Amino acid sequence: MEANVPPKRKEPAKSLRIKVISMGNAEVGKSCIIKRYCEKRFVSKYLATIGIDYGVTKVQVRDREIKVNIFDMAGHPFFYEVRNEFYKDTQGVILVYDVGQKDSFDALDSWLAEMKQELGPHGNMDNIVFVVCANKIDCTKHRCIDESEGRLWAESKGFLYFETSAQTGEGISEMFQTFYVSIVDLCENGGKRPTANNCASFTKEQADTIRRIRNSKDSWDMLGVRPGASREEVNKAYRKLAVLLHPDKCVAPGSEDAFKAVVNARTALLKNIK
Ligand code: GTP
Ligand code: MG
Repeated sequence: MEANVPPKRKEPAKSLRIKVISMGNAEVGKSCIIKRYCEKRFVSKYLATIGIDYGVTKVQVRDREIKVNIFDMAGHPFFYEVRNEFYKDTQGVILVYDVGQKDSFDALDSWLAEMKQELGPHGNMDNIVFVVCANKIDCTKHRCIDESEGRLWAESKGFLYFETSAQTGEGISEMFQTFYVSIVDLCENGGKRPTANNCASFTKEQADTIRRIRNSKDSWDMLGVRPGASREEVNKAYRKLAVLLHPDKCVAPGSEDAFKAVVNARTALLKNIK
């Protein structure tokens, strides 16, 4: 005899509430990025955020409805006393810099430091999803931080990286979509960043070497040898860097350019060494 069991109904996934904050220097475009996504518009006049702006939005990720509380912070140092209250209980951070303002890129570390300080010794930043927005990519003429430099900084910390323009809308929906999916993955993973996200696919040594090569002042400096070094010394330094950065072995952003620069530096030096 068949039991009279009602057909199984798929339980609706639970709705989720998350808190997201924006961080980055004043005028980099934090508010405009949020406005572009939530209101589909762009305001060209600069209206500085006073302390903090708060908004709520709903998004759908897979079969879950997500209620997002967005706290848009003022970047100006003057508002530190207001924004420092809002770092706690955050699941996601939108960290923004302006690709035409080197200062705003250099300041990213101090934004992380401010957050860490406010979270205190028991605060854990490993269970927060960070997305770095290299914003204002429409201003191509003024760009001074290229994609590989930004991506290298972000990915070596296990952060997501997107190139965005709040003005044209480029990259904005993709950024938010990936950001929200990563936060939901994190929540479903017991508050831990999914491993693929957590560890960069390149080493710190590779990242540091690429940065050092970018900032080197001449070919000697690039190979890390003293001016006037011998052929053997140049070749030895070259081989070490080639093994570390060869595009077949190294997937760090900028490795290909760094490798080419090292090859050129070696050729230039060997030409002049007897
Ligand atoms: P604070 O609230 O002071 O921390 O600044 P913010 O980071 O929120 O900057 P906001 O979004 O107010 O934008 C600052 C200025 O940059 C405004 O004049 C915007 O119109 C402009 N802006 C923002 N995003 C873009 C962009 O992608 N491209 C261009 N060309 N301008 C942008
Ligand atoms: Mg703002």
